[in-house]
Amino acid sequence: MKEVIVKAPATIANFGPGFDVFSLALEEPYDIVKVRLNDKNSINVKIVGMDEGIPISVENNTAGLAATHFFEETNLSKGVDVEIRKGIISCAGLGTSGASAVACIYGLNILFGANLGHNEIIEIASRGEIASGGVAHADNVAGCLLGGFVLIKNYRPIDVVKIEVPNVPIVICIIKKAKRTTRGLISGRISLTKAREQISYSSSLIHAILSGNLKDIGEAVNRDHISEPVRSRFIPGYDDIKKKVVEARAYGCNVSGGGSSIFVICEEDKTGEIAEIMKNICSQGGVENKVIITKASNAGVEEINGL
Ligand code: HSE
Repeated sequence: MKEVIVKAPATIANFGPGFDVFSLALEEPYDIVKVRLNDKNSINVKIVGMDEGIPISVENNTAGLAATHFFEETNLSKGVDVEIRKGIISCAGLGTSGASAVACIYGLNILFGANLGHNEIIEIASRGEIASGGVAHADNVAGCLLGGFVLIKNYRPIDVVKIEVPNVPIVICIIKKAKRTTRGLISGRISLTKAREQISYSSSLIHAILSGNLKDIGEAVNRDHISEPVRSRFIPGYDDIKKKVVEARAYGCNVSGGGSSIFVICEEDKTGEIAEIMKNICSQGGVENKVIITKASNAGVEEINGL
C-alpha cells in the first residue's frame, strides 16, 4: 500500500493580537505523520512516542476527523492508517492538533492525486480541529501547512496568505493546560475601544513582519485584548514572567495559541538569559515546564523520506 511521511511544524496561533487569524510556524518542535492507504475502507489513528492520552477514535482525533471530511469532500472511498509520531507536546498551545490534521490531509492529497489547493487543504484540516477545541479554526493548520507568518484573509471561503519571515529567535516555556481547552471562556463581546486597539495591534504586527524588524515584531506580539487576558489567568506567574523578560530587554511576550505555553521574542544573544528567567519563575511557582529555544521557520508541512 502506498504511504507518505510528512513533517509538520509546531505553530504559534494568534501570534499575539491575531485571534484565529495569525499564525507563525516554528523550526522546532515538529510532528512526523505517516499516512498509509489501506484496503479496509476504515480510518485508523495510532500515536507513537509521547502518547499523553490523545484520543485515537476517528471522531475525537483531529487527523481522523479531518480524514473523514476529506473522504466526504472528494467522494473517495479508500481507508487510511495515520501514524502520528509526536514531537510537539499536546495541550500546550503549540498546534499539535492542527499539525496532525493538516499533515494527514496533505498526505492524502498526495496519495490520491486529489489536486486540492492550499485553501482546500486548510478548509478540510480546520474541520478536524473541532475534535480538539470544538471549533473549526484555521490559524494553526494554515501556519503549519505553509510555514512563515500566515494570515487568514477570509474564513468563508478560506483564503490565506503567507508572508516570509526574517530570523525571529523565540524562547518558549512549554506548559500544558490544566483544562483541555480554555477557548469557551473567551468573551464573545469586546468594546469598540478595545476592538479599535486590537485592529491597530494587528496592523502593527503585519507592518512589522513586512518590514522585517525584530524589535517591532516583538513589540507588536506583546499586546492582545482577546486571548491573553483569559488564557494568562490559568498560568501561574504569567504576569511576573512577562514583566521580568521585558525588563531583561526581550521585545515581546504572549500566550501561544490556546495556552498555556508562553513565547518570548528577543535578540539571539538574549535567548539563554530569557530561558533562565522563565524556567526559574515557573519552577519557583511549582509549574511543570520545559523551556526551549527555537526560531520562526519559513518551511511548512513537507514530505520526508523516512522516519
Ligand atoms: N486560535 C485558536 C484559539 C488557537 O485561540 O483558540 C488555539 O488552538
